Amino acid sequence: MASGSNLGIVKQRLAAARRITVLTGAGISADSGVPTFRGADGLWRNYRVEDLATPEAFQRDPRLVWEWYNWRRELIATKQPNEAHKAIAKLERRCPDFWLITQNVDGLHRDAGSQKVSEIHGNIWKIRCTGCGVVEDNRDVPVPLLPSCPRCEALLRPHIVWFGESLCTVDLDSCSRALQHCDVLLVIGTSGVVYPAAGFASVAKEAGAFVAEINPDSTPQSSLVDVSLQGRAKDLVPLLFDPI
Ligand code: OAD
Repeated sequence: MASGSNLGIVKQRLAAARRITVLTGAGISADSGVPTFRGADGLWRNYRVEDLATPEAFQRDPRLVWEWYNWRRELIATKQPNEAHKAIAKLERRCPDFWLITQNVDGLHRDAGSQKVSEIHGNIWKIRCTGCGVVEDNRDVPVPLLPSCPRCEALLRPHIVWFGESLCTVDLDSCSRALQHCDVLLVIGTSGVVYPAAGFASVAKEAGAFVAEINPDSTPQSSLVDVSLQGRAKDLVPLLFDPI
């Protein structure tokens, strides 16, 4: 559990900060019931990345990949933002210079009201055409298997950044700005092993930011951050923004 003094230090830094950046991972949505990737029941414990989350997998067997994304859409459709998502959305409204970077594709930050957000790994509620590249919102559950584009008839795919694919340059630019210029970076609920996000704490630290991590477990970034608060996002994040 986070010690009272460390919590106080982070609260003070946040209260004094003009520019705040938050980076989140699957752990923040774990408290809403969305499975993480690498935890005890994590998705990558039961499924193989190379069968489901690579461009090669989609080329080989698009039906299987769509089945898996339909299963995840069905699951996520039943989940709601938790107190941590809500506290971050509230912080955005209070802080003049705020940016949220999330690796999560579940859309729960937007559902909680966050608007200044880069969803760097995409969004499970968006679909992209493999032919003409048009991205559209789509909340169908399930999506018909092997959906085709109404404009060019090419196959539609989930708007997700798969392993081996690059992040979009607009998102990378927004992230770089938000990391280079923040006074405080909060890193919440990520195992810190997937790049480029795994390098974001050190980018902000080198640029002079105060960096705090919120996670029940330690991560490869724990030794470089200023403070590690050990605990669950839904318990700790709302406390951070309470008046001092
Ligand atoms: P992981 O599943 O790798 O890590 C989840 C982290 O959340 C772990 O460090 C847990 O200790 C922590 N955690 C668990 N419960 C928590 C809670 N209640 N509060 C706070 N933290 C908690 O998920 P990510 O780091 O997000 O990529 O994974 C990064 C990327 O790998 C994902 O975006 C995904 C995956 O493959 C794509 O979907 C493209």
